[in-house]
Amino acid sequence: MGTAPTTRDEVPADVIGLSDLVVTTESSDPVVILRGVSLTVRAGELVGLVGESGSGKSTVALAIADLLPEGVVRASGSVRVNGEALDALPAKRRGALLGRKVALVLQDPSASLNPVRRIGPQMIEVLRFHFGVSRAEALRLAADRLREVGIDDPGRVLASYPDMLSGGMKQRVVIAMGLLAGPEVVIADEPTTALDVRVQASVLDLLVRLNSEKDVAILLVSHNIVAVGEYCDRVIVMYAGTIVESLAAADLMASARHPYTRALIGSVPSLETPTQAELPTIPGSPPDPGDVLAGCPFEPRCPLARARCATELPRRIALDESHTVACWAVEEELAQHPVRLEPSC
Ligand SMILES: Nc1ncnc2c1ncn2[C@@H]1O[C@H](COP(=O)(O)OP(=O)(O)O)[C@@H](O)[C@H]1O
Ligand code: SF4
Ligand SMILES: [Mg+2]
Repeated sequence: MGTAPTTRDEVPADVIGLSDLVVTTESSDPVVILRGVSLTVRAGELVGLVGESGSGKSTVALAIADLLPEGVVRASGSVRVNGEALDALPAKRRGALLGRKVALVLQDPSASLNPVRRIGPQMIEVLRFHFGVSRAEALRLAADRLREVGIDDPGRVLASYPDMLSGGMKQRVVIAMGLLAGPEVVIADEPTTALDVRVQASVLDLLVRLNSEKDVAILLVSHNIVAVGEYCDRVIVMYAGTIVESLAAADLMASARHPYTRALIGSVPSLETPTQAELPTIPGSPPDPGDVLAGCPFEPRCPLARARCATELPRRIALDESHTVACWAVEEELAQHPVRLEPSC
């Protein structure tokens, strides 16, 4: 990761902090989308957020950026950006904080670009609006950022309309645009899913390079746990709107304990998997967001489920200072050993 070396006592500050975040639909009978999510992203850290489709990853990303869709609300819990609770800020200051500190990169770069405007005017808007930079200076800075993301001919790109660029180029433009305000963190929500497979690795490599060279923290949202394990410092696993495990990426393959994490790892085809072989999947499907869950949400699909799993939600325990897990089977296995509760995220 890109964090400068610290002494034993110096822990990098949190740039993102979610505490017990509950997000629901806004109705008389609300659907619970996030069921109490706590996580942190520290300065300069590269964190992967993984889980199957529907587990709540995008909702986490949008909640941090204060961009929850119409009809979806934060019911309780808090979001902190650079140590400031979003709730405590008036709308204008909240917008300014997020505009400066957080860059959001979405799956489909076209969604972040206005198709009827050239790239140049779109890119420089943030500098003109948040920083009062002159047009000429803003264009110079935009060209610099485009070069940083590997675009050799920024003049041509600044003069182009989005549809004149490939998907990979558009995603680079969106990332460059996000970098203009000098953010502390880039939240990249499945940034390569919509791209040609040949350019996917180069966009991921770019994010890793930004992290290591510019010390920008990255929250990389993905459904591919193996790729995230390779690129990130830390992996957070979500299931049905909850965090089930969080651990150092280096420990993922050997030390992941949650049955869902293990199943996710097992469902990713390896290089040895014959191309004609049927891809492994996790049997069953995740609960619907409308389901009322008394116990562990993974219980109907879990090979290790026991009686209490159907009725009691497992608590998140710390196995060591960088590894947390929420699972009764793991907890029972550890019953003979002291376990530190109420971990950091
Ligand atoms: N606007 C919405 N209204 C109702 N349910 C929603 C809305 N947005 C997302 N959801 C539900 O919340 C769950 C989590 O969605 P999402 O955060 O997009 O998951 P992921 O990004 O992991 O695929 C899904 O089951 C989805 O159907
Ligand atoms: S709490 Fe129970 S059902 Fe849930 S993952 Fe652990 S063993 Fe399986
Ligand atoms: Mg998503």
